[in-house]
Amino acid sequence: MKKMIEEAFAKHFGGEGILYVAPGRFNLIGEHTDYNGGFVFPGAIDKYIMADIRPNGTDGVVRLYSIDMDASCEFGLNEEDAPKEQWARYVFGVCREIIKRGGVVKGFDAVFAGNVPLGAGLSSSAALESCFANALNDLFNDNRFPRMELAKIGQSTEHNYCGVNCGIMDQFASVHGKKDYIMRLDCRSGEFEYFPIRLDGYKLVLVDSRVKHELVDSPYNKRRESCERVARKLGVETLRDATMDMLNAAKDEISQEDYMRAEYVIGEKERVLDVCDALNRGDLETVGDRMYKTHQGLSKLYEVSCEELDFLNDIAKECGVTGSRIMGGGFGGCTVNLVRDDIYDNFIDTVTSRFKERYGHEPKIYPIVVSDGARRYQE
Ligand code: GLA
Repeated sequence: MKKMIEEAFAKHFGGEGILYVAPGRFNLIGEHTDYNGGFVFPGAIDKYIMADIRPNGTDGVVRLYSIDMDASCEFGLNEEDAPKEQWARYVFGVCREIIKRGGVVKGFDAVFAGNVPLGAGLSSSAALESCFANALNDLFNDNRFPRMELAKIGQSTEHNYCGVNCGIMDQFASVHGKKDYIMRLDCRSGEFEYFPIRLDGYKLVLVDSRVKHELVDSPYNKRRESCERVARKLGVETLRDATMDMLNAAKDEISQEDYMRAEYVIGEKERVLDVCDALNRGDLETVGDRMYKTHQGLSKLYEVSCEELDFLNDIAKECGVTGSRIMGGGFGGCTVNLVRDDIYDNFIDTVTSRFKERYGHEPKIYPIVVSDGARRYQE
């Protein structure tokens, strides 16, 4: 990818820039908990966005070329210059959010490309935001923004320029990722810990359904609104502080739908803690059990699954896979699977052929390689 980007940079702008990369992420457990003040357990993966960037000496003209879109875009750094192309809005948003925080962004030229599959729930947009946030921090701000602030710059970009009211998990993971470690982040305090990923006798693998259900009315934001409504009703800041007893005591004042959403979130909070304990003991069977329970909750209570993902989950169970669940926001994309080495090949063959038989196309298989976060590229 490096060579292709450098050639495109030379062709579009002449000469060369500085290369930066930032990865997508996976998440072991703790789904839809980030915006509820809970815990998440993500890691960066070996799929990333790479950008070649060079200040262009102008006061505020940004010129971009996206290799994957085969499209160019030019914008100024003032609010009224927001580009209409979605892919360019991510970069524009990052620039604006840096400026809003008192940082410096001057004109620059950039070419970028990526291999994070789009719409697969692997956070290609967070990778793009983190790549540019880190690069612009390095190029124009002497790296004065701490890493967590870079993640927040990406998150605010989603909120203010892309209409997604996301939590902090994706940008956090893309910025903080570390090879061979997953991270447990407390989304309320912002504290986090690195856990070495020890999977003796097991593998983690993503199975990508390659379906993306574009649902009207922004269902992600609606889920978040439900949680916030219940938290207000229970008099807590976020559902992190709610218990099933509190929820049941207020049952009559909460819609059936909101009740289900909150029931999932409260259950997920427990499951994440169980998984931490189990990981400390090296008990991967319990980790897997909780992953299946999370899938059930995401499918039946939070209602962010779809037929294809439920099917993938069923096949995993039939094959004796230790743990399997929807990963990320939902409504399509991948399942994350914890698979014993001895059944791995059989699982991959079975899930590939059964899915194809049913839906006419093969799922994509991505073995998880836990990788480093946003950085200046080095060979
Ligand atoms: C998306 C959001 C994250 C998180 C997950 C669900 O990936 O961007 O903030 O809420 O969904 O866990």
